[in-house]
Amino acid sequence: MSGPHWMLRLRERLWGLPPWDAGRIGDEWFRAHFFHAADLVAQWLGGALRLPTARLLNFGCGDGITDLALVLRHGATAIHGVDIRREYAKLPRIAREQLGLARLPAALTFETIAPGAPLAGRHAGVDGIVSWSTFEHVARAQLPPILRDLHACLRPGGVFFLQIEPLFHSPWGSHLRRYDDVPWHHLLASEDELWQAMEAYQGELQPDEVDFGFADFGPEGYKRWVFSEYQALNRLTADELVDLAVRAGFTVRRQERRQVDLPIPEALLGRYPEELLRNNEILLLLGKD
Ligand SMILES: C[S@@+](CC[C@H](N)C(=O)[O-])C[C@H]1O[C@@H](n2cnc3c(N)ncnc32)[C@H](O)[C@@H]1O
Repeated sequence: MSGPHWMLRLRERLWGLPPWDAGRIGDEWFRAHFFHAADLVAQWLGGALRLPTARLLNFGCGDGITDLALVLRHGATAIHGVDIRREYAKLPRIAREQLGLARLPAALTFETIAPGAPLAGRHAGVDGIVSWSTFEHVARAQLPPILRDLHACLRPGGVFFLQIEPLFHSPWGSHLRRYDDVPWHHLLASEDELWQAMEAYQGELQPDEVDFGFADFGPEGYKRWVFSEYQALNRLTADELVDLAVRAGFTVRRQERRQVDLPIPEALLGRYPEELLRNNEILLLLGKD
């Protein structure tokens, strides 16, 4: 950072954003967020508000790559990212390495919060909220208060784009596919068996599934961390999510549920509805009247 935030804003107003080059991108996690995630967010939010003038909040922003792309590629000018971790602190370095970007745009601000900490007192009146692959990680008991708080953050007429993928009951809903490719294995095997399968895996990891936390943990530490994330999943279904959102005061303006077309193991057919087992993604546009 060079100088206070208002100076950065002024500098950008006068001379524009620092140059960047997507041709330098070598990391597949970065690419997936800089293009796929950001494009979907822009499509869904952009249909309901103007990104260049909207004040946005990203709940569970992670490393902030998607937010950076919303600014650089989709013209957003104000995004505040909140998260219980500080992965976003790596963004200046990541953006330098992957894009040759000298400094982050003034449009981006980030904040670490305690899980469930209310935001509406400090972030009321926002035009749009984004949450990408985050709500499946929030502790169940915190879901209703967090959704009510996010509803209170939005201005009337504002929208909230919420995405979850993979949903828990889908083939790789465990989020363990990096190590265990067997579809629905988490619904078929015990926790011990799952961990044994993870421990035994010594192959390469799919590059677009390896986030920038990998370097902090190392190969074995990353395995343990990914497994603990699996254990903490709230196992939310798409129906439950919609129900919770409506109870928090939102209206559903648009929704899409994506399905995986795979033969379902015999052992699961009687235990869960087929639709639940196939539904791996939900995209929701929630509104505040
Ligand atoms: C799978 S990551 C997704 C991060 C980012 N949205 C992305 O697409 O890369 C889930 C994120 O949710 C965050 N998270 C989990 N529980 C949270 C909570 N209660 N409040 C805010 N963030 C939370 C985690 O720290 C993590 O960064």
